[in-house]
Amino acid sequence: MIIKLVGGSKTVILEVNSVNPEAEKIRVAAKIIQEGGLVAFPTETVYGLGANALNSTTVLALFKTKNRPLDNPPILHIADTCQVYQLVQEVPKNAELLMKHFWPGPLTLIFKRSETIHKESVAGLDTVAIRMPNHNVALSLIKQSGTPIAAPSANLSGKPSPTTAQHVYDDLNGKIDVILDGGPTSIGVESTVLDLSVDPPLLLRPGGTTFENIKTVLPTVVLHSFVTSEQDVKVECARSPGMMHKHYAPNAEMLLVEGTVQAIISKITTLSEQYSGEGKKVGILATDETQKGYSAHVVKSMGSRFDLDMVAKELFKVLREFNENSVDVILAESVPLDGMGLAVMNRLRKASNYHIIKV
Ligand code: TXA
Ligand code: MG
Repeated sequence: MIIKLVGGSKTVILEVNSVNPEAEKIRVAAKIIQEGGLVAFPTETVYGLGANALNSTTVLALFKTKNRPLDNPPILHIADTCQVYQLVQEVPKNAELLMKHFWPGPLTLIFKRSETIHKESVAGLDTVAIRMPNHNVALSLIKQSGTPIAAPSANLSGKPSPTTAQHVYDDLNGKIDVILDGGPTSIGVESTVLDLSVDPPLLLRPGGTTFENIKTVLPTVVLHSFVTSEQDVKVECARSPGMMHKHYAPNAEMLLVEGTVQAIISKITTLSEQYSGEGKKVGILATDETQKGYSAHVVKSMGSRFDLDMVAKELFKVLREFNENSVDVILAESVPLDGMGLAVMNRLRKASNYHIIKV
């Protein structure tokens, strides 16, 4: 099979088998990475927008394409643990343990970086974020490219992360060379970010690897206060630059209602009537158990309260769908903070820009 990409401003979508990616398609995409281009690709969490991590010009282009603030470094994606040793000053014992348990998988580790990495690739920090994704398309692309791949989520900065190739296309068509379409991602929220350059190890972003699971391997791990924060973090307190930037926002204003399920239903029902009375189009982000009890312009479920893995998987898709329904305001339910619920609630709070109503 010969694949030719024709020049022009359009972005090419290449469908690729997510289990056994076609070698020719991976070769085409890897060549683009090697030549300084941008390739969106699936991981098990969300789609990433990849560039050669060792080419500072390309990494700067990556920031520009996403409208990403220059102080927010990307994660470097690798396909073999031996790549870590070339990118960092030292690999602590804790890191080796975690890599063994959780890689490939949705866990990003922060190390003290080595001099081989340009400062552009780490936004001037003396640390670097590294992960090995658990997805054959991502792994094949990294191997074939022969370089670590810097890859933030493949969305425009501030928007919900993409969990399908269509989401990437909607945000970045015409701005990037290729999207490898390996179908919807399985986890749906980004990787957990864990800082091992400090003692005790600090969980900076909850994600696809749960805090409970990490604790079984690394009992000393603690949550950064921002992970469960109910208000915006002050810039000077942000250990992870991504903490302080606007995130995951749908177009409409969003209010997050937190409390017992009965109290949530009652508050959302009252607010919905109030906003509708003002002539506003109301969207409700409900759960399977509560969805039927509401009436509004549009009511969507993010999944069952008893299956928070599924809620994580659906979350960004549903947030994006509200944009198509052109609602004026979204009233969102909270979910429990256990397991994947911690990551889901962190994303919901950010998406609402911390417009939280406690009931
Ligand atoms: O699942 C994921 O992690 C996805 C897929 C594509 O791998 N990637 C992703 O990348 O979510 P991004 O760029 O959207 O988020 C990276 C996060 C940001 O919050 C950033 O601030 C943080 O990692 N980060 C990167 N380098 C860091 C560093 N040296 N120290 C602290 N935080 C860092
Ligand atoms: Mg992102």
